[in-house]
Amino acid sequence: MAGVLRVHVRPSAFVLPAREKRSFAVVGHDPQRLTSTETERGFRCEAGALSIDLVLDGFSFLIADASGRTLARALSIDGDARSKYPTPSHHAAVEFESPAGDAYLGFGEKVGPLDKRGLRFSFWNTDVMPHHPDTDPLYVSIPFFIGLRDGVAWGCFLDETWRSDIDVAMTEPDRVRWLSHGPELDLYFFAGPTIADVVRRYVALTGRAPLPPLWALGVQQSRWGYETETEIRGVVESARNAGFPFDVVYLDIDHQDAYRVFTVDRARFPDVAGLARDCAATGVRLVPIIDPALKLEDDYGVYRRAKERDLLVRTDRGDTLVGAVWPKPAVFPDFTREETRTFWAEEQRAFLDHGFAGIWIDMNEPSCFSVEPGPGDLVPHGLELREERDDPKTLPMGAMHGALRHREVHNVYGLCMAQATFEGLQSTRPDARPFVLSRAGYAGIQRYAAVWTGDNSSYWSHLELSMAMMLGLGLSGVAFSGVDVPGFLGAPTPELAARWAQLASFQPLLRFHSAKGTPYKEPWRLPEPHRSIARAACELRYRLLPYLYTCFEEASRTGLPVVRPLAMIAPDDREALVACDQLLLGDALLVAPVVRPGRTDRSVYLPRGQWLQWSSLRETTTLHEGGRRTLVEAPLDTVPVFLRAGEAVPLTEPALHTTSADWPSLTWHLHLAPEVRGALYEDAGDGHGSHRRTMLRGTYDGALRLVRTIEGHRASPREHDFLQLHGGPRPARVTGGRLLDDGRIALSGDELRVEW
Ligand code: GLC
Repeated sequence: MAGVLRVHVRPSAFVLPAREKRSFAVVGHDPQRLTSTETERGFRCEAGALSIDLVLDGFSFLIADASGRTLARALSIDGDARSKYPTPSHHAAVEFESPAGDAYLGFGEKVGPLDKRGLRFSFWNTDVMPHHPDTDPLYVSIPFFIGLRDGVAWGCFLDETWRSDIDVAMTEPDRVRWLSHGPELDLYFFAGPTIADVVRRYVALTGRAPLPPLWALGVQQSRWGYETETEIRGVVESARNAGFPFDVVYLDIDHQDAYRVFTVDRARFPDVAGLARDCAATGVRLVPIIDPALKLEDDYGVYRRAKERDLLVRTDRGDTLVGAVWPKPAVFPDFTREETRTFWAEEQRAFLDHGFAGIWIDMNEPSCFSVEPGPGDLVPHGLELREERDDPKTLPMGAMHGALRHREVHNVYGLCMAQATFEGLQSTRPDARPFVLSRAGYAGIQRYAAVWTGDNSSYWSHLELSMAMMLGLGLSGVAFSGVDVPGFLGAPTPELAARWAQLASFQPLLRFHSAKGTPYKEPWRLPEPHRSIARAACELRYRLLPYLYTCFEEASRTGLPVVRPLAMIAPDDREALVACDQLLLGDALLVAPVVRPGRTDRSVYLPRGQWLQWSSLRETTTLHEGGRRTLVEAPLDTVPVFLRAGEAVPLTEPALHTTSADWPSLTWHLHLAPEVRGALYEDAGDGHGSHRRTMLRGTYDGALRLVRTIEGHRASPREHDFLQLHGGPRPARVTGGRLLDDGRIALSGDELRVEW
């Protein structure tokens, strides 16, 4: 692929016999022809936009772009191997030069600020409850980062599923050292020069996210501890009575019969299909949780069939591995094998008949609370169990997934489960778009699932941190991400809950979720004025859907994230780089929520250019010149938002739930500037039918000239779109539209001219 260069090395002296690499992440690599020439100390190879200079004595290399600019200099590559029972242990490491001032973004689901320089991380999927603002590793591992030097971006992906540890200029301030616990280093380098170029290339390599069904972008309600069907009906009814819009209610493990996945406890949920039907009648979908672990019980069909078909993870001695999660004892399907994924899809098919709309998959790091020693399981296996349980919350490292050890495939267990779930939904309902929400993942997870950041808490610090986490995920290919609102554990103050709902309305996935044993956190239970503030945030979400859906469609086509760091539009601006308590939604909106208690103002950094204050998407007010910090008013009912100069954002009216993306009413909000643009994607909101993409392009130099182009065959459901101009006085003359009393323009043709 142009602008992508792969460097695959086996630096340890003693390695396992060479076998063909099976990448779980890469789906789109089409190797380019390399031209190679000899140099004084090695070779120079060129491929498209990138070249690599290899120095063979000591092995180092330099990656440069087409203009000859050095992007990355690997100072060394080293490795070692030790023989160890039951398999040898390996290390392979690469060290990059890291001049002061270089920044490092991405890394998937990580804590800390956006620029990870000065930090150290491991890639090892881990179930952590509770996690804290400095916990690492978490549930998802995406060994990918974007380097930024003087505003020029490059990328590096280490396609190794083994645990790896990266020291981002922490121990040695001028070195990035990345150590994999496997025998090889399969590295991909990506050319920029922009952050967007790197992300696009990384996503082209690891796969694009499909466009989710529109309903999955609505408000979602969940709680661990909705124990009966009656309780779920009560949730739907209270939300509707309180006028809260929402689209989805989740069923957590409470619906299962004794924690047996794909079953329903008939005593507490006597008629799930009826529940699903009644929910659907009020525009609400049901999404149940599925965990990977199967209860070991002979009268449990899913377990029996998995065992008979030999689809379970084994110990290194060949017995079925027995552990414990919610079900005890429990066994683990080996999702790395295709036949297991097919089996899973079959089991899921019957379960979906209840009328479920999507699947939430959890505990798929995989989480395993304890492991049972098998009969006669003492030495050497007993020794191995103890030694290898260095992560006591997952499977033993020596456990076998077919011919592969757990230590090698641990990080892709969740990805493979997500694949099974997604493909199962796809084959069961080919006409619907699958919705899968996953806790664990590896590079490429975006192909199958949205990701939420696991068991956060109702802390102000978690509210703030959630932005950098979603931004890191977005830069690592996962555009569809979210965090539990208003924190899974703990008890939020009403103020925190209201502020969290305000940020959440701009989050790609908006799910209210909370843990058993914590106070109920449904937003409609809040006291006033917080309840009305949370409701206004949910309503804003539904107004925003045309724009949000358009951002999602762009993400599915190009890989660009839905929420973006300021650095994407201001890569050489240090202030923009550190401002990660605010974010961009698409290119047009900058959102700076209040993330501190008691504050009624907010200091915002606006990148260069002009920004029109549009708090809570109500009235537009002050015009701000960017390139500096500004203090803006943010009383409790207000979330500061800014509309970028030249951008047009399409909004609709609030609704109680989504129906289709054929918006009955649509107003473009345009911030006048010399060049203007906007986009809108519309389709049925689900399925794979026709679409309609509207593009606005124009200029403004005292008069506005706007051209609307439409692509796709879907007819518009509206007679007119409306245009609201911001940042100028009331127009005097309009051609190609009609000026209304409220100041909006009803567009009648594809060309508009406005004069003042
Ligand atoms: C895990 C999940 C959480 C879920 C709970 C019970 O902690 O992260 O979201 O509610 O398990 O299933």
